[in-house]
Amino acid sequence: MRDFLQRLPKAELHLHIEGSLEPELMFTLAERNGVTLPYDSVEAVKAAYEFDDLQGFLDLYYQGMSVLRSAEDFHDLAMDYFRRAHADGVVHVEMHFDPQAHLARGVELETVMEGLGLACREVERELGMSTAMIMAFLRDRPAEAAMAVLERAAPYWELLDAVGLDSAERGHPPSKFTEVFRRAKMLGIPRVAHAGEEGPPEYIREALDLLEVCRIDHGVRCLEDPALVNRLRDEGVVLTVCPLSNVRLKVVQDLASHPLPQLLDAGLRVTLNSDDPAYFGGGMLANFLACHEAFGWSREVFVQLAGTAIEAAFISDRRRLELHRQLASSV
Ligand code: HPA
Ligand code: ZN
Repeated sequence: MRDFLQRLPKAELHLHIEGSLEPELMFTLAERNGVTLPYDSVEAVKAAYEFDDLQGFLDLYYQGMSVLRSAEDFHDLAMDYFRRAHADGVVHVEMHFDPQAHLARGVELETVMEGLGLACREVERELGMSTAMIMAFLRDRPAEAAMAVLERAAPYWELLDAVGLDSAERGHPPSKFTEVFRRAKMLGIPRVAHAGEEGPPEYIREALDLLEVCRIDHGVRCLEDPALVNRLRDEGVVLTVCPLSNVRLKVVQDLASHPLPQLLDAGLRVTLNSDDPAYFGGGMLANFLACHEAFGWSREVFVQLAGTAIEAAFISDRRRLELHRQLASSV
């Protein structure tokens, strides 16, 4: 099964590139940039990754990214992840990135875009993987700040495959960002949003109705609202689910009690993703394997999940056809 899951051409739709920063690279970049970390070893970093909830994780996530300063750092961060993803059998990666978290540290958007853009072109050329960029807004900061970043990104609008919404969910409903997402729509930029990870089902409704998103990131709490489940099924809305993330952030008690099987039974379109692989115990293959162990799913289920990811990816029709063919020939 491991071989089968590794070979399966997997598209990853929910990945925070800053959350792919492994402790080893964190130390390398800290040294390169003269940044002092509050840890004295890779083991000490890993030992600190015990989270009570989303906020507990976010505190370390924002601290960890303080080592990212130059375009070269962002390039190295993305390449490091792309190589691991490639070894996992990932053929397409859509990466969220958090410009506001970098601007707050004096790192310009140009620096982030240059480094990430370079890595995307390199991996497409050298490893044949495709990539997409999702510029995320931090929902625990004012909507005006999000709007300012969107305007500041004008030179890059063409390069953005979507905008997203992440960071601390509770108390920061999608409705707060209605204007920002309306502006993105006017600019022709597709939209996604984290909703229903820690927040209530109502946030999923708001993301659909007010932000007009084409996918929901996480969305697992939809099951608390049967009418919403019916709607998600009828409208074919894709949920980008992150099983190991949900365990580590205590959205669920353990993987065996994860609602993935219920989501599938309800006829929802779901995909498997790693979210923040360096913090949550592994990348795409680790997530697929963990689901195999927890749910005993057959090959057919994994083929269905991989197929849904290809259907919902921000790629050209030509690339979509190519990936569907690759999937068909891998089984
Ligand atoms: N949830 C919300 N915001 C995030 C996450 C997450 O898992 N990772 C990085 N930003
Ligand atoms: Zn996420």
